[in-house]
Amino acid sequence: MEEPKNVKSERRPSCVRLKPRLQMLAHLVRPGVKVADIGSDHALLPIYLIQNGISPSVLATDVNRGPLENARANAKAHGVGSALQTRLSDGLAEVQAHEAEDIIIAGTGGELIAKIISAAPWLCDENKRLILQPMSRPEVLRAFLYRAGFWPLREEACFEGRRVYIAMQTAYKSGEKKACDAAYKYVGLLHLNKNAAAKEHLNRQLQSLQKKADALKKTNSEQAELSELEDIIKAIKAVLQNKV
Ligand SMILES: C[S@@+](CC[C@H](N)C(=O)[O-])C[C@H]1O[C@@H](n2cnc3c(N)ncnc32)[C@H](O)[C@@H]1O
Repeated sequence: MEEPKNVKSERRPSCVRLKPRLQMLAHLVRPGVKVADIGSDHALLPIYLIQNGISPSVLATDVNRGPLENARANAKAHGVGSALQTRLSDGLAEVQAHEAEDIIIAGTGGELIAKIISAAPWLCDENKRLILQPMSRPEVLRAFLYRAGFWPLREEACFEGRRVYIAMQTAYKSGEKKACDAAYKYVGLLHLNKNAAAKEHLNRQLQSLQKKADALKKTNSEQAELSELEDIIKAIKAVLQNKV
Protein backbone atom coordinates (compact mmCIF):
# COMPACT_ATOMS: atom_id res chain seq x y z
CA MET A 1 0.00 0.00 0.00
CA GLU A 2 1.27 3.50 -0.82
CA GLU A 3 2.12 5.81 2.10
CA PRO A 4 -0.07 8.93 2.48
CA LYS A 5 1.89 11.87 0.97
CA ASN A 6 1.83 14.12 4.08
CA VAL A 7 3.19 11.48 6.48
CA LYS A 8 7.00 11.29 6.60
CA SER A 9 8.31 7.73 6.85
CA GLU A 10 10.45 7.31 9.99
CA ARG A 11 13.79 5.69 9.27
CA ARG A 12 14.83 3.30 12.03
CA PRO A 13 18.51 3.76 12.91
CA SER A 14 20.51 0.71 11.89
CA CYS A 15 22.38 -1.50 14.32
CA VAL A 16 26.14 -1.55 14.09
CA ARG A 17 27.74 -4.88 13.23
CA LEU A 18 31.30 -5.23 14.37
CA LYS A 19 34.18 -7.02 12.68
CA PRO A 20 36.09 -9.55 14.82
CA ARG A 21 38.70 -7.08 16.19
CA LEU A 22 36.15 -4.66 17.62
CA GLN A 23 33.89 -7.54 18.69
CA MET A 24 36.79 -8.97 20.72
CA LEU A 25 37.11 -5.59 22.47
CA ALA A 26 33.36 -5.41 23.16
CA HIS A 27 33.63 -8.75 25.01
CA LEU A 28 36.28 -7.26 27.32
CA VAL A 29 34.06 -4.37 28.45
CA ARG A 30 32.23 -4.92 31.77
CA PRO A 31 28.47 -4.66 31.30
CA GLY A 32 26.81 -1.72 33.03
CA VAL A 33 29.80 0.60 33.46
CA LYS A 34 30.63 3.97 31.90
CA VAL A 35 33.20 3.72 29.13
CA ALA A 36 35.72 6.04 27.48
CA ASP A 37 37.06 5.13 24.03
CA ILE A 38 40.30 7.02 23.45
CA GLY A 39 41.26 7.61 19.81
CA SER A 40 37.78 6.50 18.82
CA ASP A 41 37.70 7.72 15.19
CA HIS A 42 34.54 6.09 13.69
CA ALA A 43 33.08 5.35 17.18
CA LEU A 44 31.66 2.03 15.96
CA LEU A 45 32.57 0.26 19.20
CA PRO A 46 30.91 2.92 21.44
CA ILE A 47 27.77 2.80 19.27
CA TYR A 48 27.67 -1.00 19.51
CA LEU A 49 28.11 -0.91 23.30
CA ILE A 50 25.17 1.48 23.65
CA GLN A 51 22.90 -0.20 21.12
CA ASN A 52 23.40 -3.57 22.78
CA GLY A 53 22.78 -2.29 26.30
CA ILE A 54 26.34 -3.14 27.40
CA SER A 55 27.27 0.43 28.41
CA PRO A 56 24.90 3.13 29.72
CA SER A 57 27.15 5.87 28.32
CA VAL A 58 30.33 6.16 26.32
CA LEU A 59 32.71 9.08 25.90
CA ALA A 60 34.43 8.89 22.50
CA THR A 61 37.54 11.05 22.25
CA ASP A 62 40.09 11.81 19.57
CA VAL A 63 43.05 14.14 19.27
CA ASN A 64 42.05 15.08 15.70
CA ARG A 65 38.94 16.95 14.58
CA GLY A 66 38.35 14.85 11.43
CA PRO A 67 37.94 11.52 13.27
CA LEU A 68 35.75 13.25 15.87
CA GLU A 69 33.45 14.51 13.09
CA ASN A 70 33.36 10.92 11.83
CA ALA A 71 32.31 9.76 15.29
CA ARG A 72 29.56 12.40 15.52
CA ALA A 73 28.19 11.58 12.07
CA ASN A 74 28.08 7.85 12.86
CA ALA A 75 26.48 8.48 16.26
CA LYS A 76 23.75 10.54 14.60
CA ALA A 77 23.20 8.01 11.82
CA HIS A 78 22.81 5.22 14.38
CA GLY A 79 20.53 7.18 16.68
CA VAL A 80 22.39 6.67 19.96
CA GLY A 81 21.54 10.16 21.23
CA SER A 82 23.15 11.64 24.32
CA ALA A 83 24.42 8.24 25.55
CA LEU A 84 27.40 8.91 23.29
CA GLN A 85 29.42 12.05 23.99
CA THR A 86 32.39 13.11 21.87
CA ARG A 87 35.34 15.22 22.94
CA LEU A 88 38.58 16.55 21.47
CA SER A 89 41.36 15.29 23.72
CA ASP A 90 45.00 14.34 23.51
CA GLY A 91 44.93 10.94 25.18
CA LEU A 92 43.09 11.25 28.49
CA ALA A 93 44.05 14.90 29.07
CA GLU A 94 40.43 16.11 28.86
CA VAL A 95 38.83 13.10 30.57
CA GLN A 96 38.16 13.02 34.31
CA ALA A 97 38.28 9.98 36.55
CA HIS A 98 34.54 9.99 37.34
CA GLU A 99 33.63 9.88 33.64
CA ALA A 100 34.75 6.32 32.88
CA GLU A 101 35.25 3.00 34.62
CA ASP A 102 36.42 1.01 31.57
CA ILE A 103 38.87 2.79 29.31
CA ILE A 104 39.52 1.51 25.78
CA ILE A 105 42.62 2.46 23.81
CA ALA A 106 42.66 0.50 20.57
CA GLY A 107 43.98 0.44 17.04
CA THR A 108 47.22 2.25 17.77
CA GLY A 109 50.84 1.38 18.63
CA GLY A 110 51.90 -0.13 21.96
CA GLU A 111 54.29 2.74 22.63
CA LEU A 112 51.59 5.40 22.17
CA ILE A 113 49.19 3.46 24.39
CA ALA A 114 51.86 3.35 27.13
CA LYS A 115 52.45 7.11 26.73
CA ILE A 116 48.72 7.88 27.02
CA ILE A 117 48.38 5.74 30.18
CA SER A 118 51.46 7.20 31.85
CA ALA A 119 50.07 10.73 31.39
CA ALA A 120 46.88 9.86 33.33
CA PRO A 121 47.75 8.93 36.93
CA TRP A 122 44.06 8.61 37.81
CA LEU A 123 44.09 5.27 36.00
CA CYS A 124 45.97 3.87 39.03
CA ASP A 125 42.68 2.80 40.59
CA GLU A 126 41.82 -0.84 41.27
CA ASN A 127 38.22 -0.29 40.17
CA LYS A 128 39.12 0.82 36.65
CA ARG A 129 39.78 -1.53 33.76
CA LEU A 130 41.97 -0.76 30.77
CA ILE A 131 41.09 -2.49 27.51
CA LEU A 132 44.05 -2.19 25.21
CA GLN A 133 44.60 -3.31 21.65
CA PRO A 134 48.12 -2.55 20.43
CA MET A 135 48.71 -2.74 16.68
CA SER A 136 52.47 -3.02 17.26
CA ARG A 137 55.10 -3.49 20.00
CA PRO A 138 52.88 -5.37 22.50
CA GLU A 139 56.09 -6.29 24.34
CA VAL A 140 56.82 -2.61 25.06
CA LEU A 141 53.28 -2.12 26.36
CA ARG A 142 53.38 -5.22 28.61
CA ALA A 143 56.73 -4.19 30.08
CA PHE A 144 55.42 -0.67 30.76
CA LEU A 145 52.20 -1.95 32.36
CA TYR A 146 54.09 -4.33 34.64
CA ARG A 147 56.52 -1.62 35.76
CA ALA A 148 53.68 0.83 36.38
CA GLY A 149 51.76 -1.63 38.57
CA PHE A 150 49.04 -2.79 36.17
CA TRP A 151 48.08 -6.40 36.51
CA PRO A 152 47.10 -8.52 33.47
CA LEU A 153 43.60 -9.95 33.80
CA ARG A 154 42.82 -11.35 30.34
CA GLU A 155 44.36 -11.46 26.91
CA GLU A 156 42.46 -12.37 23.75
CA ALA A 157 43.34 -12.84 20.09
CA CYS A 158 41.32 -13.03 16.89
CA PHE A 159 41.72 -13.31 13.15
CA GLU A 160 40.37 -10.63 10.84
CA GLY A 161 41.20 -11.60 7.28
CA ARG A 162 44.85 -12.64 7.32
CA ARG A 163 45.71 -10.40 10.24
CA VAL A 164 45.87 -11.47 13.85
CA TYR A 165 44.90 -8.96 16.53
CA ILE A 166 45.47 -9.19 20.25
CA ALA A 167 43.78 -7.36 23.14
CA MET A 168 44.38 -7.11 26.86
CA GLN A 169 42.27 -6.27 29.88
CA THR A 170 44.29 -4.96 32.79
CA ALA A 171 43.80 -3.23 36.15
CA TYR A 172 46.01 -1.38 38.62
CA LYS A 173 47.03 -3.31 41.70
CA SER A 174 48.65 -1.31 44.48
CA GLY A 175 52.08 -2.46 45.57
CA GLU A 176 52.68 -4.50 42.41
CA LYS A 177 55.46 -2.51 40.73
CA LYS A 178 58.20 -4.70 39.25
CA ALA A 179 60.02 -5.61 36.07
CA CYS A 180 58.75 -8.55 34.04
CA ASP A 181 60.83 -11.24 32.40
CA ALA A 182 61.55 -11.31 28.69
CA ALA A 183 59.23 -14.21 27.89
CA TYR A 184 56.28 -12.51 29.62
CA LYS A 185 56.83 -9.35 27.56
CA TYR A 186 56.31 -11.31 24.34
CA VAL A 187 53.79 -13.93 25.47
CA GLY A 188 51.69 -12.18 28.11
CA LEU A 189 48.73 -14.37 29.01
CA LEU A 190 48.25 -15.57 25.45
CA HIS A 191 49.73 -19.03 26.09
CA LEU A 192 46.78 -19.66 28.44
CA ASN A 193 44.42 -18.88 25.60
CA LYS A 194 43.93 -22.00 23.54
CA ASN A 195 42.44 -20.36 20.46
CA ALA A 196 44.12 -20.62 17.06
CA ALA A 197 44.64 -16.86 16.69
CA ALA A 198 46.62 -16.66 19.96
CA LYS A 199 48.81 -19.55 18.82
CA GLU A 200 49.33 -17.92 15.43
CA HIS A 201 50.27 -14.57 17.03
CA LEU A 202 52.88 -16.26 19.25
CA ASN A 203 54.31 -18.22 16.32
CA ARG A 204 54.61 -15.01 14.27
CA GLN A 205 56.36 -13.28 17.18
CA LEU A 206 58.84 -16.15 17.42
CA GLN A 207 59.46 -16.15 13.67
CA SER A 208 60.16 -12.42 13.64
CA LEU A 209 62.59 -12.69 16.58
CA GLN A 210 64.28 -15.65 14.94
CA LYS A 211 64.65 -13.66 11.69
CA LYS A 212 66.23 -10.82 13.64
CA ALA A 213 68.65 -13.24 15.33
CA ASP A 214 69.59 -14.83 11.98
CA ALA A 215 70.27 -11.38 10.49
CA LEU A 216 72.50 -10.49 13.45
CA LYS A 217 74.42 -13.77 13.02
CA LYS A 218 75.05 -12.98 9.34
CA THR A 219 76.35 -9.48 9.98
CA ASN A 220 78.50 -10.76 12.82
CA SER A 221 77.64 -7.67 14.82
CA GLU A 222 76.87 -7.08 18.51
CA GLN A 223 77.40 -10.43 20.24
CA ALA A 224 75.59 -9.19 23.38
CA GLU A 225 72.46 -8.28 21.40
CA LEU A 226 72.45 -11.66 19.68
CA SER A 227 72.81 -13.68 22.85
CA GLU A 228 70.07 -11.61 24.54
CA LEU A 229 67.79 -12.33 21.60
CA GLU A 230 68.61 -16.03 21.72
CA ASP A 231 67.82 -16.11 25.44
CA ILE A 232 64.45 -14.47 24.75
CA ILE A 233 63.65 -16.99 22.00
CA LYS A 234 64.58 -19.88 24.30
CA ALA A 235 62.44 -18.46 27.12
CA ILE A 236 59.42 -18.00 24.83
CA LYS A 237 59.77 -21.56 23.50
CA ALA A 238 59.96 -22.87 27.06
CA VAL A 239 56.76 -21.04 28.02
CA LEU A 240 55.00 -22.29 24.91
CA GLN A 241 56.01 -25.85 25.70
CA ASN A 242 54.76 -25.40 29.28
CA LYS A 243 58.25 -25.98 30.62
CA VAL A 244 58.11 -22.97 32.94
C1 LIG B 1 43.62 3.81 13.66
S1 LIG B 1 42.49 4.80 14.55
C2 LIG B 1 41.76 3.61 15.64
C3 LIG B 1 40.30 3.86 15.81
C4 LIG B 1 39.60 2.91 16.78
N1 LIG B 1 40.08 3.07 18.13
C5 LIG B 1 39.77 1.48 16.36
O1 LIG B 1 40.43 0.72 17.08
O2 LIG B 1 39.24 1.09 15.30
C6 LIG B 1 43.52 5.72 15.67
C7 LIG B 1 42.86 6.99 16.14
O3 LIG B 1 43.59 7.46 17.26
C8 LIG B 1 43.66 8.87 17.18
N2 LIG B 1 44.80 9.30 18.01
C9 LIG B 1 46.11 9.26 17.74
N3 LIG B 1 46.83 9.76 18.75
C10 LIG B 1 45.95 10.11 19.72
C11 LIG B 1 46.07 10.70 21.01
N4 LIG B 1 47.25 11.04 21.52
N5 LIG B 1 44.93 10.93 21.72
C12 LIG B 1 43.72 10.62 21.21
N6 LIG B 1 43.55 10.08 19.99
C13 LIG B 1 44.64 9.82 19.25
C14 LIG B 1 43.78 9.16 15.71
O4 LIG B 1 43.37 10.47 15.38
C15 LIG B 1 42.86 8.09 15.12
O5 LIG B 1 41.56 8.57 14.93
